[in-house]
Amino acid sequence: MEKSVQNLKEAFAGESQANRKYLAFAEKAEREGFPQVARLFRAAAEAETVHALNHLRALKAIQSTPENLKEAVSGETAEFLEMYPHMIASAQAEGHKDAERTFNFANEVEKVHARLFQKALENLTNKELVDIFVCPVCGYTVEGEAPDKCPICNAVKKLFKRIE
Ligand code: FE2
Ligand code: FE2
Ligand code: FE2
Repeated sequence: MEKSVQNLKEAFAGESQANRKYLAFAEKAEREGFPQVARLFRAAAEAETVHALNHLRALKAIQSTPENLKEAVSGETAEFLEMYPHMIASAQAEGHKDAERTFNFANEVEKVHARLFQKALENLTNKELVDIFVCPVCGYTVEGEAPDKCPICNAVKKLFKRIE
């Protein structure tokens, strides 16, 4: 059983990556004037999501919302405490500017995510619906209203995407 659990985790990671990659490829195909190829990439991306979610369910990794929020807080926290600081240091040491920039964006935003998830956990009985906006450049996530300028990457307010 242990081998299969490990395999499910690996397959979940791979299928999740394929989903995002194919969506990026679809956008590119659309821009390059290949709408049928774009459609094929979107179809495969959809199917990879089905596979990823099937693997996740087989792992019994989707629990109750309070448990899922706790899991999210600990995942985000590990990313900004451990994972990204090390990756940023390596990127600096190697002079990989693009890696440093993207790791920095993610590192700063994961701190915000951890805080938002923690707050949601503490306010679970509050059923009020509040707007949430995401910066399309760095992923900065904010409740209420989009800022005039993104505090992490300086993107302007009108670029922010409101999440349904
Ligand atoms: Fe697949
Ligand atoms: Fe995050
Ligand atoms: Fe941003």
